[in-house]
Amino acid sequence: MLRHVSLRGALCTLYALLVLWLVGYCLLRYLDSTKTSLQDHHRNVFENYNSHKTQFHFLQLDDDDDNLHKETKNLSIQEVQLKHPTNQLSGDYLRSLVFHPNPHLPTISMCSDIIEGDKEAIETSQLGLLEMKSTFFQKKLEMFASLEEDVLKAAQNCSLFKRSRKYIEIPLTPEEKAYPIAYVITIHKQVAMFERLLRAIYQPQNLYCIHVDKKSPATFLSAVEKISNCFENVFVASNLTDVHYTHFSRVQADINCLQDLAAKRNIVRWKYVINLCGLDYPLKTNLEMVRSLKNLHGYNNLETFTTPAHKKQRYLFRYVLPTDNDVNYSVMRKTDISKSQSPLDTPMFAGSAYFIFKYKAVECILTDPVIKTFLKWNEDTYSPDEHIWGTLQRWYPNLPGSFPPHIKYDLNELQSITRLVKWGGMDTEVYPKCAGTYVRGVCVYGVGDLSWLLRQHHLFANKFNFDIDPFAVECLDRWLRNRTIVQTLKYISNGFV
Ligand SMILES: *[C@@H]1O[C@H](CO)[C@@H](O)[C@H](O)[C@H]1NC(C)=O
Ligand SMILES: *[C@@H]1O[C@H](CO)[C@@H](O)[C@H](O)[C@H]1NC(C)=O
Ligand SMILES: *[C@@H]1O[C@H](CO)[C@@H](O)[C@H](O)[C@H]1NC(C)=O
Ligand SMILES: *[C@@H]1O[C@H](CO)[C@@H](O)[C@H](O)[C@H]1NC(C)=O
Ligand SMILES: *[C@@H]1O[C@H](CO)[C@@H](O)[C@H](O)[C@H]1NC(C)=O
Repeated sequence: MLRHVSLRGALCTLYALLVLWLVGYCLLRYLDSTKTSLQDHHRNVFENYNSHKTQFHFLQLDDDDDNLHKETKNLSIQEVQLKHPTNQLSGDYLRSLVFHPNPHLPTISMCSDIIEGDKEAIETSQLGLLEMKSTFFQKKLEMFASLEEDVLKAAQNCSLFKRSRKYIEIPLTPEEKAYPIAYVITIHKQVAMFERLLRAIYQPQNLYCIHVDKKSPATFLSAVEKISNCFENVFVASNLTDVHYTHFSRVQADINCLQDLAAKRNIVRWKYVINLCGLDYPLKTNLEMVRSLKNLHGYNNLETFTTPAHKKQRYLFRYVLPTDNDVNYSVMRKTDISKSQSPLDTPMFAGSAYFIFKYKAVECILTDPVIKTFLKWNEDTYSPDEHIWGTLQRWYPNLPGSFPPHIKYDLNELQSITRLVKWGGMDTEVYPKCAGTYVRGVCVYGVGDLSWLLRQHHLFANKFNFDIDPFAVECLDRWLRNRTIVQTLKYISNGFV
């Protein structure tokens, strides 16, 4: 009996050892093959890059606040090669994406100092701007005017346009490729500024719907169409609305685009949609946006807070569009006619025109019959863009990704990641003073604002205007592009983990 047991024991041990050896052998072989293919892969990508390395002086990233490597994801090498063909994304290609110095903006060489908040560099740039606005005023004005023409002339040859304007035409990382973002951009003027914004956020895997105000000049619309026609994933909204300030039409413009974006979701499976206007500019790279959106854990993100008393009359009374006789009104005019209760069973919340909605939320907004009546009910309210989205976001749990109506779920504009705006009344107390110029109570950023802006968690900031401070836009643009390239290189050199 005993002998029998020990024989079986020995056999079992032998068997176990054999299996262990086999597993170990296979694992080692596997790891080895992974390592060599990854090494080959890196060598291909870096060969060209390394030979030019000495010419690169990228802004050093602070590794402490660079959470690029937090997420670890196992991709098999086959997947990597499939999603990320090495013959496309080369060091040469990445190098070709660095922006050339702009001969029109001489002080821009100090951009990285400006971003670090270096006082001297900021003052020099501000002096440059003053100089431009006086001595060279006429000449520079002409330059800005010619920018529009240049853009249009360039867009006549799409491949040349995309290459010379350095559009990113290859998805830079498999992670970004697998996480498309949809955009709504509502604009009514300034083609050159629109083109810059588009270039700053353009990625071939994303989807872009441009809503052009129906009353914009035909030349503006055709210019935007010309640029859009250069890209398969950029299009002008199929239904254009005449947008009136503080009227529901501002919301309609977004909805027109949401409909088109939803209809095209079988082509681009976008995860979240972000709406922008012409004077917004990104503060984050596309990869950082993807990470930010993943960190929302399926919630939408937008300003939504308990309506302050003074904003309640916006929907307690009917408002009408001003007529030509209403010389005193450019905004919606209040009447004495009371409105009915909102068709939603949650209270009204305040917010802003800007949202980050996930696809399921958009689908619900476009199809839910109660939301349809809610939207209709808002057609005679004042500035409904500032309460529709904020209210829907609390229509819990009906709207996917929404928050419960409890006040604890309020989110103000600094807590949400959607849009960073410096309001006139609040600066110095809430945030550093506007270093640019106030236009209608909102800061149009100057170079002195950049170092603070870039330390916030928001994906976009408003307002940037090339016509008012070209240095701020130029600097931010260059910095973001460099950061994009650095992050891509870091991503690749860490073996896609
Ligand atoms: C990745 O794969 C390795 C080896 O197969 C494993 O040890 C590790 O836990 C995996 N990591 C994740 C995040 O799945
Ligand atoms: C566009 O520009 C490229 C590069 O300069 C050139 O090869 C091509 O012929 C141009 N296409 C047209 C239609 O002009
Ligand atoms: C197009 O926009 C108009 C407002 O300009 C709106 O009344 C209409 O319902 C929209 N059409 C579609 C098909 O969405
Ligand atoms: C416009 O405002 C002025 C001054 O406040 C007032 O005198 C005038 O009657 C107003 N006009 C109309 C049409 O309301
Ligand atoms: C971006 O990189 C280029 C090339 O290395 C460098 O000349 C430039 O100063 C950098 N700009 C910024 C804003 O970091």
